[in-house]
Amino acid sequence: MKERPITLTVNGRRLTATVEPRLTLAGFVRRQLGLTGTHLGCEHGVCGACTLIVDGAAVRSCLMFAVQADGAEVTTVEALASDQELSPLQRAFRKHHALQCGFCTSGILMTMHALLKAEPQASAERIREVLSGNLCRCTGYIPIVEAVLEAAASYGSESR
Ligand code: FES
Ligand code: FES
Repeated sequence: MKERPITLTVNGRRLTATVEPRLTLAGFVRRQLGLTGTHLGCEHGVCGACTLIVDGAAVRSCLMFAVQADGAEVTTVEALASDQELSPLQRAFRKHHALQCGFCTSGILMTMHALLKAEPQASAERIREVLSGNLCRCTGYIPIVEAVLEAAASYGSESR
C-alpha cells in the first residue's frame, strides 16, 4: 500500500513522517517514534493499555490509524514526567501502590490525565466510571482511584 506523509505534533514536537495507511497510531508511536511507553494489549479496543491523548481526548491508539492523526496534537505517557521528575499523577500512583506489573499503567495514566485536565473536580464515582474502560489484571482498582483522587488537587490552574 502506498505510504502517505503526515504532519503532527507529538509531546510538543512538530514532526513529519511517512506511514503506511494501515499503520495504527499505536504502531506509529512505538515503532517509528520509539515511544514504547504506550503498550498494546488486546489490539481491538477493549483493554485501554494503548490509550493516548489526541487533541485533548483519551483515545485507543490501536483503533486509530496514524494517517487519521495528521494535523493532530498527540500526547504520550513520555510527556508526563519532566526533567527526571515524575508528574503529580505518577507520584500519587507510586505513593498508593497503584501499579504492580505496570502493563496497564501508561494507558490508565493517560486516561486519568485527560479526565483530570477536563474535570479536576472529578468525584471517586466519576473516576471509577471513566476508569472502567481500562483493564488492570493485577493491582485492583482501589489504590488507583485513591491515587487519582490525591493527584486531582494538582490539576486545575496547573494541569500537566
Ligand atoms: S490495545 Fe488498544 S484497547 Fe487494548
Ligand atoms: S498493574 Fe499489572 S495489569 Fe495493571
